[in-house]
Amino acid sequence: MPYNRSEKLEQARAYEAREEKAIAAADRPRIHLTPRVGWMNDPNGFCCYRDAYHLFYQYYPYETKWGPMHWGHAVSRDLLHWEYLPCAMAPDTPADGKGCFSGSAIELPDGRLELLYTGVSGTDKEPVQAQCVAIGDGTDFEKLAENPVLPPDRQPEGFCAADFRDPKIWRENGRYYCVAAGRHKDNGGSIELFESEDARHWTFVTVLDASRDEYGLIWECPDFFSLDGKQILLVSPQSIGPTDDPEIRPGYAALALMGSYDPQNHRFTRESVRLLDAGMEFYAPQTTLTPDGRRVMVAWMQSWETCNDALRNHRWFGRMTLPRELSVKNGRLYQQPVREIEGMWREESRLTQTADGDLPLPAFHGRYQDLTLVLDTERSPDCKSLTLSFAQGGKYATRVRWEADRRELVFDRSRCGTRRDIPHIRRIPAEPVDGRLTLRLILDGDCTELFVNGGERVISVLIDTPAEADGVSLHSDGPACVELVRHTLA
Ligand code: FRU
Repeated sequence: MPYNRSEKLEQARAYEAREEKAIAAADRPRIHLTPRVGWMNDPNGFCCYRDAYHLFYQYYPYETKWGPMHWGHAVSRDLLHWEYLPCAMAPDTPADGKGCFSGSAIELPDGRLELLYTGVSGTDKEPVQAQCVAIGDGTDFEKLAENPVLPPDRQPEGFCAADFRDPKIWRENGRYYCVAAGRHKDNGGSIELFESEDARHWTFVTVLDASRDEYGLIWECPDFFSLDGKQILLVSPQSIGPTDDPEIRPGYAALALMGSYDPQNHRFTRESVRLLDAGMEFYAPQTTLTPDGRRVMVAWMQSWETCNDALRNHRWFGRMTLPRELSVKNGRLYQQPVREIEGMWREESRLTQTADGDLPLPAFHGRYQDLTLVLDTERSPDCKSLTLSFAQGGKYATRVRWEADRRELVFDRSRCGTRRDIPHIRRIPAEPVDGRLTLRLILDGDCTELFVNGGERVISVLIDTPAEADGVSLHSDGPACVELVRHTLA
């Protein structure tokens, strides 16, 4: 059946195909997905479909700032190298004329791909958010005439029509389920569960969990899955106020709520709440299951708090984190870069040494690399602190310092080149494991992701450093037994 493409969609497709030519490959990171042109926020519709990973994204092609939301689209075989496909959806129907907001994707039994997303309609003063369906072949999608398939009045009493969004769909025991973000007049941000026989007709099941202003006013972009015997609810709260958890800061954050789930009565029992990423740039994660059974998560590598395109003179803004494999160990959620990254390793450098004072590492320079530093804390009793500097040169450097007395790690990008007074420093607990502190840094141009102790904590941060500043060095206050392994990333 030929697809019925609106003028708005055709216009976006023609625009992106023309404008992307003006963007040099060197102006993009190598393995972090950026928008084809213009603006990107949340990952959407992350899935494996017909032997390829599909990643859609919140997209406004015409400017490097947020605007009426389209869905951008890219595919990959290895989760690292992405190829653009034409813009998948434009806000071009009565149900989504004010924006195609976030959502997810699932393969239907007949082999077509369904996108379940939020259509925004109504007025600016009184917006209406409702869930809509588009079905297609993986490139072109037809929106259902009966959209919205899940209007806000399908929610129970007390929920509003203006904040009802970001459905994440899955299939279980022959039925479809989705979680969506809702806002209740007393309980605030709430995650609602719906079910369906056919992924089109939805009925309300229950509220899985709610913020009650403990963790923010609304919870956006939920995801819900079981992993290693635990049940995980991912949420991205807006406007967190003071909490009792010193690791959770005010503002926007992405949290992992871990607990148990009884599928009989659909009850989720929350046992713990943890920050997913301690960096300044991480929001709205979404996961998928790979064909070999890995739960892989990708997030917008940005935050509403720190986004501003004034400094970067690019024709695009926004990017995704590297996809990360999730696992649960000792009641904690761990994240590791997907193992496919090893396929990109090129030159290897190694060093085992006792460092004391300054240790330049000329063999480790570069802005595209996967670097692991292990500090043997048992054999370094007099090491007071150890600092790894990278993207270093002239007045520039970004630093990660471990402070032995406080058992803390300090990530500091204040000398990265930024000219903005936004947060530049993060301090997190970092306890050595079996006498070793392990830091794995993935550097992809200006994207930095630091995985601490095998992914027990992660810090995702963007730096604003000229490409020439590519030095790496160590500084130790007191003798430190260190081991470094580095692979350049091609
Ligand atoms: C989260 C979010 C979503 C919404 C989308 C709109 O970053 O606010 O809740 O669907 O962005 O672009």
